[in-house]
Amino acid sequence: MNNYKDKYDLYLSKINNRLNELLIKSTYEDDIVCDAMRYSVENGGKRIRPVLVLEACSICGGEIDDAVDIACALEMIHTYSLIHDDLPCMDNDDMRRGKPSCHIKYGEEYALLAGDGLLTYAFEVITGSNIGSDKIVKAVRCLANNSGFNGMIGGQVVDLRSEGKQISYERLKTMHSLKTGALIRCAAELGCICAGADEEKTAQLISYADRLGLAFQIVDDILDVIGDEKELGKPVGSDSASEKTTYVTLFGLDAADTMAKEITAEAKKAINGFENNDFLMTLADKLTTRKS
Ligand code: IPE
Ligand code: IPE
Ligand code: MG
Ligand code: MG
Ligand code: MG
Repeated sequence: MNNYKDKYDLYLSKINNRLNELLIKSTYEDDIVCDAMRYSVENGGKRIRPVLVLEACSICGGEIDDAVDIACALEMIHTYSLIHDDLPCMDNDDMRRGKPSCHIKYGEEYALLAGDGLLTYAFEVITGSNIGSDKIVKAVRCLANNSGFNGMIGGQVVDLRSEGKQISYERLKTMHSLKTGALIRCAAELGCICAGADEEKTAQLISYADRLGLAFQIVDDILDVIGDEKELGKPVGSDSASEKTTYVTLFGLDAADTMAKEITAEAKKAINGFENNDFLMTLADKLTTRKS
């Protein structure tokens, strides 16, 4: 399939169908946490991380359908990170994916548990996938490492510790590479694991995703200033309300935009060696010019 949109839509339908199957009602009578998990996962998300898992798997010669459960597990971790990120003790944001945030709809205690529920369920889902035990162990390790204190959580810590003060460019880069880059890098690596890709291909795709993740968060910083709340599905001005250092506060809008474009060009260069790289090349460009 050559058309970018057709392929993205195909991936989206595989991911969304499987997420719906996986997030069935719990066996308990009172399943408010399960409802909250489903509420936050369903609709509205761009699903770029699971899409990247499927395409990385495909470009390395793997079977897409083998990677769908792993892709869904990553989307669950990402959604948990958003639920917790919106809590009053974190960014205190009331809207997410075009709807009231999880804690606004279900209360803080259940939003906390819904995040925990998605985090733990993600690993249950991976261990139930049919990719074989060697690949499952690698996938669990990869997801745990990139989500944890050396990855996304580590980045969220830097983010919180940096509120109210200006941080250095080096620290900002580290923060973005961890809080957002880690799960995007993880997406590429998970796809490679599913496909049994060799070291060279894996390194190239990780390098692509690394740059993509950094550019993605720079654009997120820009959209927090100039985005349209309706289109974005989440509040604008959240970063300045929490006095965050961002690419915009350090460099201004124009320079941040230029940097995002330069880093996107680096991402594309990293996968020059792949023959069927059209989709990933277009994905990189689309993410740089996105409005949501
Ligand atoms: C939002 O991620 C949080 C960041 C890491 C910037 P996305 O922009 O991928 O959010 P969804 O999944 O599409 O809602
Ligand atoms: C998100 O960073 C990082 C996460 C791990 C969720 P932001 O706090 O900038 O994300 P948004 O703008 O709320 O989506
Ligand atoms: Mg945040
Ligand atoms: Mg936030
Ligand atoms: Mg943001």
